[in-house]
Amino acid sequence: MLNSIGLDNDGIDAFVEHHLPYLRELPTAVIVSIAGRNHDEFVAMARQLEGREGVAAVELNISCPNVAHGVDFGADPGMCGKLVSDCRSATSLPIIAKLTPNVTSIATIAKAAEEGGADAISLINTVLGMAIDWRKRRPMLGNVVGGLSGPAIKPIALRCVYQAAQAVKTPLIGIGGIATIDDVMEFLVAGASAVQIGTANYYDPTVTMKLVEALPKALREAEVSSVRDIVGTLKTSF
Ligand SMILES: Cc1cc2nc3c(=O)[nH]c(=O)nc-3n(C[C@H](O)[C@H](O)[C@H](O)COP(=O)(O)O)c2cc1C
Repeated sequence: MLNSIGLDNDGIDAFVEHHLPYLRELPTAVIVSIAGRNHDEFVAMARQLEGREGVAAVELNISCPNVAHGVDFGADPGMCGKLVSDCRSATSLPIIAKLTPNVTSIATIAKAAEEGGADAISLINTVLGMAIDWRKRRPMLGNVVGGLSGPAIKPIALRCVYQAAQAVKTPLIGIGGIATIDDVMEFLVAGASAVQIGTANYYDPTVTMKLVEALPKALREAEVSSVRDIVGTLKTSF
């Protein structure tokens, strides 16, 4: 999928007032993804979520390619480290830093997030791409470029998770093209402790439950008793 949706939502005040009340009733942990237009807005949003009943963690979206300066914090190690650290001071909630693959060295950014005090690092957000209608000589997307997701980006995401796992001790959450239990297991072996599913939900809204149900059998096949035992077990010597 190639999208340039941006971050369409009704804002954190509306989220806290209207959405959190029904979300917190769901029998699962609720992780709130926040994206500020600048440093101070991120910190203010993290502070606003502090102490809110039903919020399990905050994910800092420092990697959206579809908004102005959306990836700045995820592309500059100094900005990334300072942002994570200031959000860390603003809330006692666990902080997850969500990284962009559109950088030269994912390991450097992951280290900056770790040094800033991130409790976990999620990766990857979408890969910058574009589509063109050559007959009209027009870009297909209003924003000209957009974010590529789904199975096409899985090899990039696996590579990013693997490289980040070599660089940091912070738990990683793997994202990118996951649709099957084999995809999940590949990310765990590469070094992710958990995974997220994005695009696959669009064509199968029940995909997540199917993967949860398939996990025990895959762990038995791997001859391990828990997810923890398989995380980062990739053998690279031949
Ligand atoms: C339509 C669409 C909207 C997205 N919106 C967000 C968003 O608001 N915040 C965010 O952090 N990531 C967003 N993403 C990125 C996904 O969370 C995920 O990182 C990326 O799509 C790769 O995973 P996937 O291949 O499973 O979709 C969006 C992706 C898609 C396809």
